Amino acid sequence: MKVIITENYEEMSKKAADVIADVVKADENAVLGLATGTTPIGLYKELIAKCARKEISFKNVKTVNLDEYVGLPKEHVQSYDYFMKDNLFNHIDIDIKNTNLPSGVAEDLDAECARYTALLNKMRQSIQLLGLGSNGHIGFNEPKTPFDSTTHIVSLTQSTIKDNSRLFDNIDEVPTKAITMGIANIMNAKKVLVVASGDNKAKAVYSMVKGPVTEDCPASVLQNHPDVTVIVDKKAAALL
Ligand code: F6R
Repeated sequence: MKVIITENYEEMSKKAADVIADVVKADENAVLGLATGTTPIGLYKELIAKCARKEISFKNVKTVNLDEYVGLPKEHVQSYDYFMKDNLFNHIDIDIKNTNLPSGVAEDLDAECARYTALLNKMRQSIQLLGLGSNGHIGFNEPKTPFDSTTHIVSLTQSTIKDNSRLFDNIDEVPTKAITMGIANIMNAKKVLVVASGDNKAKAVYSMVKGPVTEDCPASVLQNHPDVTVIVDKKAAALL
């Protein structure tokens, strides 16, 4: 694991955007595994700026997102589909047909999980971007998720529902289930990039980098991946 500690969130975002831009420059057909959440917003802004300056193009790039809430239609402002359009896809030269998220409103969710895993097997991520849950989750793979899991439906833990409630008017509106890439799907990416910022992530960053590899901290599995870059600001790195 390569760990880069930055002064603040802005520097973390710039450095992380450079890593993704390098992947796109090296392969215009790259498959980007993307994440939602608060942490990547700054790096998406940097990518939008690089695209506007014509330093990179997403014309032939394909994307696969980590996860989606169950029960929220694409148009819902809190859906991850909406988030990706609002924070990235609508502002770059990507063909929206090349973007993929699991569907949280599919009639048959088990079939949707199988479809998404088959898609990931066909479109191996050139790089997978990950945020980090304060409990060490990656995607919506909560503690105790088996390391060999593929796309599946999860019941979110109370701590994740509480973390995510800041984006909803009230905690009762936060969906209690999600569809997520499994840990095996994440580990199949050629490269992994983890970003984390703020002191509420410090414990999870420590467990990911220095703790034992255990299903109690899903992110610790990344110690077994051959090409992981972790970019964290100094608050998130406080316990390293
Ligand atoms: C998002 C995702 C989650 C987040 C994590 C951190 O697609 O899969 O694992 O990356 O919950 O979220 P933020 O960045 O909001 O702290």
